[in-house]
Amino acid sequence: MASKIKIHSPATVANMVCGFDVLGFAVNEPYDIMYIEYKAEPGITIVNEDAYNLPTDPLQNVAGAALLALLEAYDKPVGFKLTINKQIKPGSGVGSSAASSAGAVAGANALLGNPFTKEDLVRFAMNGEKLASGVKHADNIAPCIYGGVTLIRSVFPLDIIKLSVPDLFVTIVHPQIEVRTADARSILKQQILLKDAIKQWGNIAGLVAGLEQGDYDLIGRSLEDVLIEPTRSILIPSFDQVKKISKELGALGGGISGSGPSIFMLSKNEKTAKAVQLAMGQIYDSIGLSCHTYVTTINTNGIQLMEAS
Ligand code: HSE
Repeated sequence: MASKIKIHSPATVANMVCGFDVLGFAVNEPYDIMYIEYKAEPGITIVNEDAYNLPTDPLQNVAGAALLALLEAYDKPVGFKLTINKQIKPGSGVGSSAASSAGAVAGANALLGNPFTKEDLVRFAMNGEKLASGVKHADNIAPCIYGGVTLIRSVFPLDIIKLSVPDLFVTIVHPQIEVRTADARSILKQQILLKDAIKQWGNIAGLVAGLEQGDYDLIGRSLEDVLIEPTRSILIPSFDQVKKISKELGALGGGISGSGPSIFMLSKNEKTAKAVQLAMGQIYDSIGLSCHTYVTTINTNGIQLMEAS
């Protein structure tokens, strides 16, 4: 068994527009790089190799919180050293905290000889989400661990379904502002109208059916959110323009990635995804806001673990 493991933990897009807290998918880029190894004494040591200055106290660090939950469930006293090199900017809306916490527990599980199931790992990693956002949501953690598109039918108890997915290209733009998930959750309405709920569950069901059947038109029609987007999109400069132009260029649809500020669009082919990327960059250039853009694909395998020396 390896004594040191290298972890590639992917970015994820939660909600998938209409599925607030219940749908999410993993992408091939960007991904965090981490190393986990045993240390002599029990407990967790965290070393940051990036410039984000995140806490190294395991109780204050999302990966630490996830590892502490795993250690509590493991019956022998062990210790880990986790070295984190984040490539996914915190607060960008593409599952930065989930990549850290899910990657850490997946790596620790492999070091221990895989005593835990994927569902256990989701349960441990949700402690990181609780620390980051105040809520144990699994729509970044689950796709990070399972890969592909996941439906979280229930969190308590956990019920995760990995969906089939046709070939899709994903364009992501990250305007360089930060939106904290906790803040983006705090502005949401706590009550919704039945007529809006009906539209929303029609779209969620349509999206799941469209993904399973590889029906691109149905996917596109279902990428509509009448509950969350109208409130949250106010936090994202030029959101409506990005969405409108992306669709005019042929994107199937898209919206806020997780709690934002990143926006994602799905396309059937790479050419469209790249045209969307160019247009997104031009929109933010025109208002003097710098941004990062990616064209990537759905990561169907989730976290990747490699033996390290
Ligand atoms: N479902 C969560 C939210 C995802 O939208 O608040 C956060 O990444």
